[in-house]
Amino acid sequence: MRFAASVATLIASAALSSAASVTFWTLDNAQRTIYFTSNPGSSNIDSVKVGGGKNTTVTFPDTWQGNFYAVKEGANNVPGMLGEINFGSWHGLTYFDVSAIVDPNDKDNVKQMFPAKSLEPMSGCVNFPCNNAYYLPDDIQTKATEEQELVCTLGGGSIGHTFTEEQ
Ligand SMILES: *[C@@H]1O[C@H](CO)[C@@H](O)[C@H](O)[C@H]1NC(C)=O
Repeated sequence: MRFAASVATLIASAALSSAASVTFWTLDNAQRTIYFTSNPGSSNIDSVKVGGGKNTTVTFPDTWQGNFYAVKEGANNVPGMLGEINFGSWHGLTYFDVSAIVDPNDKDNVKQMFPAKSLEPMSGCVNFPCNNAYYLPDDIQTKATEEQELVCTLGGGSIGHTFTEEQ
């Protein structure tokens, strides 16, 4: 994670209003388990099974920081493409990104993350690799939003929305 200077423009209007959450939206038919890794000081979140074609919402403490990865049913539990989140962080904003730092070849689990209402900004890719994920420690790819509710898509396919960041 690294913050881009442009997030400063969001700060003036940041406000906590709803519960921090991620809705996992599975776009293919696979069943997966989401495993969470909490940063020091953030509470543990139990792993959760998410079904093919479904939305599953997980709620978090307001200032939770950590990451998660998805493992398909029957596959080994090894960290892959990561979703990284800092809820209620600097100036109360939510920071997030999709990170390929651990395993850039994990291409059909965690795909795209974005705020549930505005849908922008988006981190991640429909097809990896793309230039909208975090590949190197000095990539400036961390996104910020005033919203506390994020969506993370999993698996194959796109959601049929053209994001600003998509090329
Ligand atoms: C999952 O959530 C998205 C975004 O709100 C929605 O478009 C989609 O229809 C939902 N899918 C199901 C199966 O409820």
